[in-house]
Amino acid sequence: MVREMFDAIAPRYDLVNRLMSLGMDRGWRRRAIGLLQLAPGSLILDLACGTGDVARELATNGYRTIGADLSFGMLAAARPGGAPLAQADGTALPFAGHRIDGVISGFAMRNFADLAAVLAECARVLRPGGRLGLLDVDTPTSPLLRLGHRIWFTGVVPQLGSVLSDRAAYHYLPRSVAYLPPRDELLAIVGDAGFIDVCHNTLSGGITQVITATRAGAVGLLRASARPR
Ligand SMILES: C[S@@+](CC[C@H](N)C(=O)[O-])C[C@H]1O[C@@H](n2cnc3c(N)ncnc32)[C@H](O)[C@@H]1O
Repeated sequence: MVREMFDAIAPRYDLVNRLMSLGMDRGWRRRAIGLLQLAPGSLILDLACGTGDVARELATNGYRTIGADLSFGMLAAARPGGAPLAQADGTALPFAGHRIDGVISGFAMRNFADLAAVLAECARVLRPGGRLGLLDVDTPTSPLLRLGHRIWFTGVVPQLGSVLSDRAAYHYLPRSVAYLPPRDELLAIVGDAGFIDVCHNTLSGGITQVITATRAGAVGLLRASARPR
């Protein structure tokens, strides 16, 4: 279902993305890349790369980049800045273990049918000390911003998506936020997958969030300290 939905919206995905984020999405992706704190030249997987916005930003900034996504339609529409792409499910990545310096994923967490399985796979492909960055939408805490965000996200965005792209997909979008577990639970799921230094970063007053974490030091080791801070 997820793959079919993204195949359907792929041709207009970038246009609708720019409009519904009022052009802020590029800055959010850059910020998420910065929070990985990895040097240029590092090998980074853009997981659920879609049309390649994160991959292109990585490649432009001197990172060795690969992209992977479930949807052939999104991959066919991608402009990944020269990065190689693979059609793959995040729960079964076609990469050897412990070779990758960083895994980043933009606006995909909500769409993973089995988030814990995807995180376990991220831990498998990352080298010990490798970095994880998960960028996604969030709900602002300030009452005023929360109200404006609700009107925009549940009222305007679905209409915009209906006119320019696919009605069902953009009505699903606001609902998909509810698929994310509450913050503490989400951070605990990341820690339980084999990550330490699990941090939550708020962007643009809480419209978006980036969860960062570090792959635990020894392969397969889950320490008590793997719990989020
Ligand atoms: C909202 S798009 C985000 C695309 C891109 N990362 C961005 O920043 O715009 C979500 C992407 O997640 C992909 N996806 C969903 N579930 C997946 C899975 N299990 N494995 C790989 N990709 C998946 C979809 O195909 C889609 O391209």
